[in-house]
Amino acid sequence: GAYQEPFRPQFHFSPTRGWMNDPNGLVYQDGVYHLFYQYYPDATVWGPMHWGHAVSEDLVHWQHRPIALFPDENGLIFSGSAVVDKNNTSGFGKEGKIPLVAIYTYHSIQGEKTGRNDFQTQGIAFSLDNGETWTKYEGNPVIGNPGVRDFRDPKVFWHEDTQSWIMALVVGDHVRFYRSINLKEWQHLSDFGKGQGAQGGVWECPDLFPLQVEGTDETKWVLIISIGSGGPNGGSGTQYFVGDFDGTTFTPNHEEYKWLDWGTDNYAGVTYNNVPNNDRIFIGWMSNWQYAVLTPTSTWRSAMTLPRKLSLKKFGDDHMVVNYPVEAVFELLAKGQTQDMVLKAAETKEFMHDGLNRSEISFTTETRDFSLALTNDKGEHLNVIFDAASDLVIVDRTRSGLTGFQQEFGNKLHYMDVKQLPKGLYEVTLLVDAGSVELFVNRGQFVMTQQIFPTRPYTKLLIGNTSNSQMELKGFSISNVASIWD
Ligand code: FRU
Repeated sequence: GAYQEPFRPQFHFSPTRGWMNDPNGLVYQDGVYHLFYQYYPDATVWGPMHWGHAVSEDLVHWQHRPIALFPDENGLIFSGSAVVDKNNTSGFGKEGKIPLVAIYTYHSIQGEKTGRNDFQTQGIAFSLDNGETWTKYEGNPVIGNPGVRDFRDPKVFWHEDTQSWIMALVVGDHVRFYRSINLKEWQHLSDFGKGQGAQGGVWECPDLFPLQVEGTDETKWVLIISIGSGGPNGGSGTQYFVGDFDGTTFTPNHEEYKWLDWGTDNYAGVTYNNVPNNDRIFIGWMSNWQYAVLTPTSTWRSAMTLPRKLSLKKFGDDHMVVNYPVEAVFELLAKGQTQDMVLKAAETKEFMHDGLNRSEISFTTETRDFSLALTNDKGEHLNVIFDAASDLVIVDRTRSGLTGFQQEFGNKLHYMDVKQLPKGLYEVTLLVDAGSVELFVNRGQFVMTQQIFPTRPYTKLLIGNTSNSQMELKGFSISNVASIWD
């Protein structure tokens, strides 16, 4: 059947064919979660961008829909967001139908070719049938280009306090905020970011949203910014700032920027608008511009991360954005037998298991010196190493399967700094699909997402206690994960 090709994700979203990058227009309306995405249907490499489209009722099972937005005379359709215009501020609503409005970047190839700098502008389009068909606004572009090369990726949300739409837009090395009352006319409010945070590449795909600090009644604002290069383990990465937003200006706390994910393959991620119960749900593109166009898949390229619920927690004096898969992901598990076990110092235990490439592996422990290895009968292996002395978690995919398609993919170890992991019991969860592994430590306090391309399924899990005392594992299980495409 469909979706059976080598490396085809079984419980992550991927397009049927063609090229995909950033998630776009993440919005919930009338029981439907929309996932639009940067899409080039005619090849498996980046090309003239469209918005592809899929819908879901649970964020896990997806149904493909026709392409939503095609390039037009203003340019290609780059990344952006979508809002439910409940009060019909745009006037696009007709006969009581609430418009869904997409706000995206136009990238004019002609403009770029003639050596101009002003080829990126912002446009809008609306749908009156919950995302099935779209009409572009005749007054596009709604924000012209002030003469800067990188001017894109509008994230718009409704700001209750000022009863207006706020847009975060990236401009090279910083983010710019705008306000509108009708989604058509935009007023520049303020800028944030020059000289701040990670600047290893241009800023892309901003997102700004409030989160309640867990266990308090305090609300903080989180600003997510992707960077094309200079990520924690090379290439693309996603940083965030925690601070305050007063309707005009974003003011960061006096704490450092942090990485949302330490793995190599979580980029351009943003969150949903309009989710019931105010849940803040994030999806990222599970790739890296370093090698995205070279990964060894056949008819399609790239998948999305699992949908993750974001929350804000204090660890010591620091606020950290915690990201952990939404409940519906765990409903895909055929929960394996749970066991408690003890490993003596230096002991290794082996578990044979068919289908580790579609599994969830989970346990809690206090030990910070151990290793996990997933291997197959060809000796390919993926290793995860917890090292207490350095306070690091290390992912080694150098011999995980196919790696030679690009030099950077498999030539180094990936590090995650877990200094702020509190003492005591913590959970370790690995979600392994045909082309990826997502590691969640302490229920998403620390996360590493990476692609892998084992040529045969992994069939053996090794857990090695590398500490000099015994290691207790509680609630250890290996669970099979149902395919979302069956
Ligand atoms: C991020 C990005 C965006 C841009 C889009 C183009 O991956 O470079 O900044 O809008 O991809 O496809």
